Amino acid sequence: MTPQNLTWDEAIYPRSAVNRKTVEAYVEALSIGAQFPAVKVQQVVNYTPGGDLLAIVLIIIDGVHRWFAFTEAGRSHIPVIHYQDRVLDYEAVKTELLLESAQNNTTHGDRLTIADKKRIARDIATSDPDHTYTDTALAEKLGVSRQAVNTWITDIRARQKTSRAGTIIRLHRLGWTQEKISDQVGLTQNRVSQIINNAIYGNIDNLLEQGRDMAYIASHYQMDMALAWALRLTSLHDRDKFKALDWGLRTWDQWQFNDCDDRFGSDWPGRIPAQLVAHTLYYFTRPGDRVLDPMAGGGVVPDVCLLFERKCRAFDQNPHKDRPEIEPHHWDPDTGDWPLTDKPDLIFFDPPYYTKLDKTYKAAAAPKAPSVSSLPREDYIRFFARFFTLAHEHTRPGTTLAFLNADWRNFESTPAAQETPDQAVTLFDYHDLLSQTGWQTTHRIECPLSTQRLTSTQVQRMQTKRILGTIGRTLLIARRM
Ligand SMILES: C[S@@+](CC[C@H](N)C(=O)[O-])C[C@H]1O[C@@H](n2cnc3c(N)ncnc32)[C@H](O)[C@@H]1O
Repeated sequence: MTPQNLTWDEAIYPRSAVNRKTVEAYVEALSIGAQFPAVKVQQVVNYTPGGDLLAIVLIIIDGVHRWFAFTEAGRSHIPVIHYQDRVLDYEAVKTELLLESAQNNTTHGDRLTIADKKRIARDIATSDPDHTYTDTALAEKLGVSRQAVNTWITDIRARQKTSRAGTIIRLHRLGWTQEKISDQVGLTQNRVSQIINNAIYGNIDNLLEQGRDMAYIASHYQMDMALAWALRLTSLHDRDKFKALDWGLRTWDQWQFNDCDDRFGSDWPGRIPAQLVAHTLYYFTRPGDRVLDPMAGGGVVPDVCLLFERKCRAFDQNPHKDRPEIEPHHWDPDTGDWPLTDKPDLIFFDPPYYTKLDKTYKAAAAPKAPSVSSLPREDYIRFFARFFTLAHEHTRPGTTLAFLNADWRNFESTPAAQETPDQAVTLFDYHDLLSQTGWQTTHRIECPLSTQRLTSTQVQRMQTKRILGTIGRTLLIARRM
C-alpha cells in the first residue's frame, strides 16, 4: 500500500495533536532499517461531506505516527492490516472507530494522555444520547476505571436525562414568559404554570445531609447539574455562592482560569470558563438583572445566570442541541434585526476571535448565514461597528457591554518584527469601534488563555524563528453613553 492512499481522519483520531518528536524518531529509525508493525486501516464509504459518498476511502485506525514517518521518509510502501474486511458506512460506525483507535493507543506506542481520554469520553457521551455506550464499556476501551468515566461525563448525561419539568424550571428561572416556555416545550400555558407552581425541591438539603452528591441529586430530580446547583444555592448572597462552588473571588483585574468547570456550560469550540462569567456578573450586575448573550455557543452564560439568579436571553446561529434556552438567530446587523424587546442590563458578548476557530464555526454554519469568523477583515470590522450601533439603539444609558476578545496577529509563521499590522485586528480596534458608537470603555480585564495548548516542539519552533505568540485575552467593559 502506498502511504498516499491512506487518509488521516482527525475526527476519529484520539489525540489532541500529533507528536512531532515521535514522528522524527520513527523517520530516523526507518533510515537505519528499522521494521514497523502494520498500520491498521478500515475501508469506508459515506465519508466526505459534500463529496462522492460511494467512493471507498481507507482511513487509519491505528498508526498515524508511523504513517507520517513513512510519508516524510518518502517511502512508497507501508504495511497495512484491515480492522474489518468489509466496507463500513463511516457515519454509522464513526464512534466505534474512534473507540477502537483509542483502545489501540492505550496498549502500545505513545500512550494517550488522561486529557485525551477525558475528551474522547465526553465527545462520545455528547453524541450518544441513548447511552449505547455504558460507563463500563467506555472505561474498558479507554483503559481507565468506570468511576473516572462517570466523573468525566456526569454533567453531559444529566443534561441528556433532563425531564420536561427540568427544562420548564430552567427557562422560568432565566426569565422566559410562560407563553414563550409553552411554545418551546409544546405544553399548554396552564400545564406550564402548574409545573412551575408545583415544583418543590426542598429536599436538596436533606439529600446532602444523607451524604448524597450533586450528581445523585441532579439525576434524582432529572435535571442538569447547573440547575441542581442553582436550586441548591437559591437566595444565598453572590459571595457565598462563590464559596459554595469553590471558586476564589478575584479582587484584582487579572482573571486567569486554566480549566473550564465541567458543571457549567457544554463542550464547545471556544468555550470559556464559568468563573470568568461569574466574576463579570458579580462586579457589573445584581440579582434579577437581565443579561443578553448574543453568541452563546455552549451556554456557559445562561448556566451562570441561573446560578446567580440573573435573567438571561441567549442566541446563536448554531444552537447547542441540548440547550433549549439558546434561541437560533443569525446576527446580520445590516438588516437591523434585534430579536428581543426587553432591554438588557448587561450584554456578555463573546464572538469568535476573528478567524480563530473559523474552520469549526464555518462547518456548522449555513452557507447564507456565515459565522463572523469567515468575513474578510474589512467586513469583520464593519460587523462590529454595526453591531455596537444596533446594541446602542436597543439599550438604555448605563447598560454594560462586556466584550471578550483577543488580539489577532498573523504570527503563526511570521517572525514578530516582520508581522504586517494592517492585517491584524487588536483590542485597540474594538476599543475605537466602541467609542465611535457611543460606548465608553471603563475597564480592561486580562483573562489570558492557557499556554498548555502548545506542544514543546511548537514552542521550540517559535523560539527559533523569533515568532511571538499571543495568549492574551481581554474583557473590555464598556458603558452605554
Ligand atoms: C467564541 S464562540 C462562543 C463561546 C461561548 N461563550 C462558550 O463559552 O461556549 C462564538 C459563537 O459565535 C457564533 N456565531 C458566529 N457568528 C455568528 C453570527 N453572525 N450570528 C450568530 N452567531 C454567530 C458561533 O456559532 C459560536 O458559537
